[in-house]
Amino acid sequence: MTTQGWIGRPSGEPLHVIPHVVLGVGGGIAAYKAALLLRLLTESGHDVTVVPTAAALRFVGAPTWEALSGKPVSSEVWSDVSRVPHVQIGKNADLVVVAPATADLLARAAAGLADDLLTTTLLTAHCPVVFAPAMHTEMWEHAATQANIATLTARGAHIVPPASGRLTGADTGPGRLPDAEEIFAVCQRLLSGSEAGGPLAGRRVVVSAGGTREPLDPVRYLGNRSSGKQGYALAQVAAARGATVTLVAANTSLPAPTGVDVVPVGTALELQDAVAQAAKDADVVVMAAAVADFRPKAYAAAKIKKTHAATVDGGPDESAPTIELVRNPDILAGLVEHRGAAERPLIVGFAAETGDETGSVLDLARAKLARKGCDLLVANEVGVDKAFGTDANTVHLLFRDGLPGSPRDHTAGPAPKAEIAAVVWDGVQALLDPR
Ligand code: C5P
Repeated sequence: MTTQGWIGRPSGEPLHVIPHVVLGVGGGIAAYKAALLLRLLTESGHDVTVVPTAAALRFVGAPTWEALSGKPVSSEVWSDVSRVPHVQIGKNADLVVVAPATADLLARAAAGLADDLLTTTLLTAHCPVVFAPAMHTEMWEHAATQANIATLTARGAHIVPPASGRLTGADTGPGRLPDAEEIFAVCQRLLSGSEAGGPLAGRRVVVSAGGTREPLDPVRYLGNRSSGKQGYALAQVAAARGATVTLVAANTSLPAPTGVDVVPVGTALELQDAVAQAAKDADVVVMAAAVADFRPKAYAAAKIKKTHAATVDGGPDESAPTIELVRNPDILAGLVEHRGAAERPLIVGFAAETGDETGSVLDLARAKLARKGCDLLVANEVGVDKAFGTDANTVHLLFRDGLPGSPRDHTAGPAPKAEIAAVVWDGVQALLDPR
């Protein structure tokens, strides 16, 4: 029998630009592990509302959830009543994940009780729901719990089975909450946009992100201050809109976005290879990475010493070494050249500009668009506290002349990088599907 709810997102309904996830936390000792799951979710660009049960708050208090999610937290339906949170939180969710799901919580969910904010959220959610049970082995194996699991599974809920191992106290057996990374991976699979359809469904896109590092010796490199956040946001939004996404990531420490295939790289030449490989059957390539224009000509296999060999008069040579550089290929220009007269892939470049005495940011960006020959150039203003590593961005979108469907050049922001990513994909979609 199929009943309402929990079966999945209604087909064709896209995820929010930033996926909305509800993290339900049950009252078990493993509640502290849910804090790690929360971190993984927020750091990979999800908007997370934590709904702990009253018992969960006895294990981990509201300040922890509020600090990590950046939002107020409540476990009952009596606060903020005018916003009807007991209905809105569930209705607005793209995914609900309950970790740890205690025996009591599973029983209440299976029975359809609505006696706190988490159970009302479960009854109003029309998105995928994941339960990660954690309890003592006896409670997990009890027929009542297993019947509840069967009921929830029959309604379309996803169960991440408990792991075996050391439980609270000295006993061991099945009942441990699986690692946060494992639960996170299940959430990512369920959130991956290809399941939901969306404006980029069926499209293959490649995004490069981060900053290349060009090694000098085993401990030093020439690098830049790119955090990779804008590129990750682009990959995340493309996946949320249904694209198959390859993210070529240069030296980032961000968790992989939902449903995205990440190819880690270090240098410009590695990035060039990875992008060329992924671009072969791509509809769109977005070069958001900060690629080093130069690399050291020679790589010293041993660490370069501060003081090198003796000079003619016998004393140590304290002069600074000279590092010779060679040019890296311009990967973006190379993609345009390789495409030749073909229409695909669409190629998007980024330009980090400061403006100078020769022109404003916009003047320099227009000249760059013409020089690089890409279809869309996203220019952002950078400076000591602008763009690099920050969470918000202002960009100018400049389109190549004469492209069918091309919107007018326009400016977006200041806005969070996920919203900037959405604007960039709106522009790309206009070029992919000209009206
Ligand atoms: O010329 P500039 O470095 O400002 O151009 C930035 C754009 O070109 C970005 O899209 C960047 O990813 C790309 N780029 C490249 N190869 C380089 C340098 C930059 O593809 N060697």
